[in-house]
Amino acid sequence: MVVPTSLLALSFFSSFAVATSLPFKYSQNLLVHESRDFLPTGVSFIGPAASHTPLKLRIALSQTNPDAIVTALLNVSDPASADYGNHLSKSEVEALVAPSSASVSAVNAWLQEHCLSATAISPAGDWLQLEVNVSKANSLLAADFSTFSLPSSDAKAVRTLSYSIPAALKGHIDLIHPTTAFPEAIKTIGLSKRAIHEPVLPRAAVASSKCGSGTTPACVQSLYNIPTTPATNSSNKLAVTGRFGNNAHYNWLQTFLKKYRPDMKSTTNFTVVGVDDGNNDQDAPSVSEGELDIQYTVGLATNVPVQYVMVGVNWTDDGLNGYLDEINYLLSLEHPPQVLSTSYGYAETSMSYALTDKLCKAYAQLGARGVSVLFASGDNGVGCQDSNTTLFQPTFPSNCPYVTSVGGTAGSGPETAWAGSSGGFSNYYAAPSYQASAVDGYLTAHTSSANYNATVGKYNPVGRGFPDVAAKADDYRVQETSIASIYGTSASTPVFASIVALINDRLSVKGKPPLGFLNPWLYSTGKSAFTDITKGNNSIECNGETAGFEAVEGWDPVTGLGTPDFNKLLKAVGL
Ligand SMILES: *[C@@H]1O[C@H](CO)[C@@H](O)[C@H](O)[C@H]1NC(C)=O
Ligand SMILES: *[C@@H]1O[C@H](CO)[C@@H](O)[C@H](O)[C@H]1NC(C)=O
Ligand SMILES: *[C@@H]1O[C@H](CO)[C@@H](O)[C@H](O)[C@H]1NC(C)=O
Ligand SMILES: *[C@@H]1O[C@H](CO)[C@@H](O)[C@H](O)[C@H]1NC(C)=O
Ligand SMILES: *[C@@H]1O[C@H](CO)[C@@H](O)[C@H](O)[C@H]1NC(C)=O
Ligand SMILES: *[C@@H]1O[C@H](CO)[C@@H](O)[C@H](O)[C@H]1NC(C)=O
Ligand SMILES: *[C@@H]1O[C@H](CO)[C@@H](O)[C@H](O)[C@H]1NC(C)=O
Ligand SMILES: *[C@@H]1O[C@H](CO)[C@@H](O)[C@H](O)[C@H]1NC(C)=O
Repeated sequence: MVVPTSLLALSFFSSFAVATSLPFKYSQNLLVHESRDFLPTGVSFIGPAASHTPLKLRIALSQTNPDAIVTALLNVSDPASADYGNHLSKSEVEALVAPSSASVSAVNAWLQEHCLSATAISPAGDWLQLEVNVSKANSLLAADFSTFSLPSSDAKAVRTLSYSIPAALKGHIDLIHPTTAFPEAIKTIGLSKRAIHEPVLPRAAVASSKCGSGTTPACVQSLYNIPTTPATNSSNKLAVTGRFGNNAHYNWLQTFLKKYRPDMKSTTNFTVVGVDDGNNDQDAPSVSEGELDIQYTVGLATNVPVQYVMVGVNWTDDGLNGYLDEINYLLSLEHPPQVLSTSYGYAETSMSYALTDKLCKAYAQLGARGVSVLFASGDNGVGCQDSNTTLFQPTFPSNCPYVTSVGGTAGSGPETAWAGSSGGFSNYYAAPSYQASAVDGYLTAHTSSANYNATVGKYNPVGRGFPDVAAKADDYRVQETSIASIYGTSASTPVFASIVALINDRLSVKGKPPLGFLNPWLYSTGKSAFTDITKGNNSIECNGETAGFEAVEGWDPVTGLGTPDFNKLLKAVGL
């Protein structure tokens, strides 16, 4: 009989093989890779996740030299460096951040043992995406994916409090996401929109202050000497991040331009790029942020092509995946837009250092390519870490030393710190060398102030200080169904981004590279172009105690180096 014979032969062969050497299996020795002991405030366990629930897991592969991108970034961004402005190409950046081929093959071999395969989702191949269901993910990672409810929304999240990877993959995998992180969105619109009635001001008052009837393009143009002269180079672009269904309506932009920029063509438009199936649905109601971000870029960066990068809405998904997908889209371009303005953020402590750092170093990649990456600092003053402590809460990505954080001011004659302006010191990142002396200067001055006793012990005095710069954050006139008045660093950021884009336009026509990653320049030659803000504070009440930082002479963790002056910026860049 044929069958038993062959079976016998097979069984003999396999027992022989076992006796000689056990075939290597990755899955035989799993070690806990990340875990958490308690749930963040406001998150609660609902129950085990249904086994068929689909998951899109992102695997971050280790880089051969994770700091190489930082060295390269500073090399091209520090005015004191011989390579200042000599930005890297797409392939140069990819060569610096690509995982080793040993890491790629080890991870693929492990997945193959489980009949799975992953696809690369970043141009350098350092991020993989694995689509699995909950039951498969639980067995693959010795995890327990469950459903949790999240604070201040109806959203639910599928997460695990612990996961493991094979011991043989330590050093090949940095992390897998979303697993143990519960990123908590920070507020970036200070006051909910409200309809306003235009005040009827006496003629003289209107003439004496361009800011007499709220913050408009004319108001910020006059405050910061922003020219109305149109940009001329159509290759010089400004990208604006759109998230969470914050659509921007074309017809409202047109109405806004007619009213507030009568010197511009009211048909001046923006383009939309969809990431994760994002679109700019014109039938959706306004949620303010999108209108604000578009009206104060198209309406200020006169004739700079504005691209709205709309990341798909999926409230059941994790917001950080949207950030990652946006970065990877921009990194995939041979010529990414030279400025990126984002008015969204997260609480620093809601993310692990490992996860924060993967995204932070991805922003460093954009910076090395010559992109100025700007983020709103947040609208919650110094923040409050959780309901049990009076520790301050820094924000992500402003805590990242490789992005530029924009805080807020209020008033106009002269401006003072806007009370909501988020600022402080990262618990994850040390003060980078470009800002060490500015931060030291602040801390020295601060320790003699009356407020010092109230803040001591609530922040990390050797951490990366933010924001880096500031711009007006109060009473922005935004066209929706009617004119709304909007507050927040959400408004400051597109205004600052527009200024950078206009400077880049002037640089480009002189054959010079764009400003790229701003900070090493801001804290050295650039700081002469800023108006120091020396009054106000960002104190908040946190579990019964009121404390915060004060705006003082020089850099401070409320308004950074101050507000920009376009004419002085031109001088500082040598134009
Ligand atoms: C989960 O996915 C695996 C394949 O990876 C499949 O064999 C299994 O039937 C799925 N389980 C459920 C409950 O969908
Ligand atoms: C800086 O860039 C130059 C050329 O672009 C390169 O030769 C040099 O190695 C770089 N230095 C570092 C530290 O990356
Ligand atoms: C702006 O572009 C959108 C999308 O292409 C288009 O629907 C709209 O009509 C344009 N607006 C103007 C004023 O041209
Ligand atoms: C959002 O994500 C969930 C879970 O992955 C999926 O079931 C749903 O189809 C997604 N919705 C959209 C609009 O993409
Ligand atoms: C805060 O304190 C409560 C009661 O002591 C405790 O149950 C909870 O886990 C604490 N939360 C945090 C984030 O430490
Ligand atoms: C803190 O307050 C105490 C009592 O008012 C005062 O003696 C001390 O100098 C203060 N410390 C600092 C660093 O200001
Ligand atoms: C426009 O900008 C691009 C990229 O910044 C630059 O390469 C090009 O030379 C500029 N063109 C003109 C006409 O100034
Ligand atoms: C902070 O500013 C507010 C006004 O925004 C003021 O009422 C308060 O006294 C200031 N606090 C300190 C400590 O200066």
